[in-house]
Amino acid sequence: MKRREFIKNTAALSSVAFLPNQLSPFGNINTLRTAHIGVGGMGMEDLKSFASHDAVKIAALCDVDSRALKKAQEVFPEAKVYADYRKLLEEMSDQIDAVVVSTPDHTHAPASIMAMNMNKAVYCQKPLTHHVAEARAMRKLAEEKQLITQMGIQVHSFYDYQLATVLIQSGIIGKVKTVRAWSPKNWGFDGPAPQGSDPVPEHLDWNLWLGTSAKRPYKADVYHPGNWRKLMDYGCGTLGDMGVHIFDTPYNALQLDVPKTIKNQCRKPTDFGYPEHNIVTYKFPGTPYTAKSLKWIWYDGEGAPKMHKDLRLPNNEKLPDQGAMFMGEKGRLLLPHFMELPRLIIDGKYQKIEVSKYDKSGQLGSPTEDYGIEANKHYHQFVDACLGKGKCSAPFSYSARLTETILLGVIAGRFPNKTLHWDSEKAEFRESEANQYLDAEYRDF
Ligand SMILES: NC(=O)c1ccc[n+]([C@@H]2O[C@H](COP(=O)([O-])OP(=O)(O)OC[C@H]3O[C@@H](n4cnc5c(N)ncnc54)[C@H](O)[C@@H]3O)[C@@H](O)[C@H]2O)c1
Repeated sequence: MKRREFIKNTAALSSVAFLPNQLSPFGNINTLRTAHIGVGGMGMEDLKSFASHDAVKIAALCDVDSRALKKAQEVFPEAKVYADYRKLLEEMSDQIDAVVVSTPDHTHAPASIMAMNMNKAVYCQKPLTHHVAEARAMRKLAEEKQLITQMGIQVHSFYDYQLATVLIQSGIIGKVKTVRAWSPKNWGFDGPAPQGSDPVPEHLDWNLWLGTSAKRPYKADVYHPGNWRKLMDYGCGTLGDMGVHIFDTPYNALQLDVPKTIKNQCRKPTDFGYPEHNIVTYKFPGTPYTAKSLKWIWYDGEGAPKMHKDLRLPNNEKLPDQGAMFMGEKGRLLLPHFMELPRLIIDGKYQKIEVSKYDKSGQLGSPTEDYGIEANKHYHQFVDACLGKGKCSAPFSYSARLTETILLGVIAGRFPNKTLHWDSEKAEFRESEANQYLDAEYRDF
């Protein structure tokens, strides 16, 4: 199934910024019954965080790897278990309220859209989708059906990220001209596609793992688990994996929409793995918090970031391993990723930040060094929203646009060193050869 028509239909939505999350359809319930699709890796962390909320009943578990399913079942023995999410959703439709999708990226949209069509609330891991067309489709569906939704960018609810947002919006460094962000992680692969095939292990349903993507022979350790991130058919490289977290605060704080131009400096495409090193430059139209236009630069891969005077720290201190630096008219704000407070730099020196001056009502709470406490906030916010208490802070109305932005940089990696021009209204690039990567054919499986 080709969904290019879907993007066209949803193109008009792209200019509507920050739509509010909708009221809960479950306002009168006090238990939220959840179904979890993908329970190995991050899926297990998601399960634990949801289970830590008193109102949650883990009703169903689904994984295409029976070893991951068994481990989860040991922790939640009362939950029903499935290998195929379609069967789970069909059979348990009236026994679940919300669906959590923690699979590899290429399955996020097919599973989420099926659940949303059944009017379920959806918590979907980041990046929201593998393709721009899917992000637009999910946003449109969530809005039409007024569903509670949240993308799994838990740092969005962390104290230090929220503080950075308040500081930037208060004008602590004036209007922002440039943001530089980096991660030295390498979720790319410069080698050739593997030849031949390996026997599919008994514990894995390879056809279900491939899902809507094209058929491909199984190779041990190349795809499952985790390594799919490096590969174009399933993941989104380091930018999709880490950029979506690290750019979330600049995106949110500066109230950006989608960019006008994107350029990725990287090696030539191989059609199999993402480049192991990327420098991606985005240009955005100005907003009330930026100069006339805003430049975002992303660096990834071993050794990132490439040094630049904007990134020099006082006393020649070493840069945090991952993070973002905001350059404003009056100074710079460094936001390490993650669980570290933002740092203000003016005239080459660190300046004290008097938080109470900026967070007058104390709504941010206080910093904690406990990752578990911080991470659970984002999940609990979703559960509470489903129970009619409060709103989600990263609903699809927000996170689909952030994801679209990130994915445009991923697509730019197919056209090294070329500036691509994005027309958000038409949902297409001026460079028509790039438009084929906005969508993908879905296989019947
Ligand atoms: N928010 C975060 O901090 C964070 C951290 C890590 C991963 N993630 C995200 O979580 C998702 C999963 O990443 P991971 O590292 O756990 O990957 P993984 O490969 O380690 O685990 C994915 C799990 O999903 C299962 N799975 C695959 N296809 C499935 C299908 N069709 N139906 C049901 N189960 C299926 C796999 O068997 C495996 O157990 C990704 O979207 C990733 O970006 C988020």
